Amino acid sequence: MIIGVGIDVAEIDRFDAALRRTPGLAARLFLDRELLLPSGERRGPASLAARFAAKEALAKALGAPAGLLWTDAEVVTEESGRPVLSVRGTVAARAAELGVRGWHVSLSHDAGVASAVVIAEG
Ligand SMILES: CC(C)(COP(=O)(O)OP(=O)(O)OC[C@H]1O[C@@H](n2cnc3c(N)ncnc32)[C@H](O)[C@@H]1OP(=O)(O)O)[C@@H](O)C(=O)NCCC(=O)NCCS
Repeated sequence: MIIGVGIDVAEIDRFDAALRRTPGLAARLFLDRELLLPSGERRGPASLAARFAAKEALAKALGAPAGLLWTDAEVVTEESGRPVLSVRGTVAARAAELGVRGWHVSLSHDAGVASAVVIAEG
């Protein structure tokens, strides 16, 4: 059963500029491992903006309650490139309240915009 769905878009250049301009923003939004590619290089701006959009979309799927920590949601990238969501702490607690047992996420980036859709499944 679908319990919630969320969608978000982020302008890639604007998000990248905010990350560069604001000390500590990347650490507030992302776990260290989300910032890196499997090669150890830093993930590119489009890919990071899509991961931010995924967290906003996830929040919407949960009804965007106050108090969710960005780093309690993680976009894990499988070896194939497929993204999956992993949650803990504040996000896991809200998900449990709603009966969410699984997540689906899809990311895209093109034409200067990154986007994500998240489905919360019961
Ligand atoms: C509510 C929130 C998601 C709105 O996002 P935004 O980037 O400001 O705005 P967007 O344009 O992407 O989305 C706006 C739409 O969100 C939807 N929305 C508003 N409140 C919502 C809620 N409580 N639940 C789900 N969707 C909501 C509405 O449809 C709104 O469009 P409308 O005003 O035309 O109806 C945002 O303010 C927020 O709370 N973000 C979550 C922060 C967070 O919890 N981060 C940790 C995530 S792990």
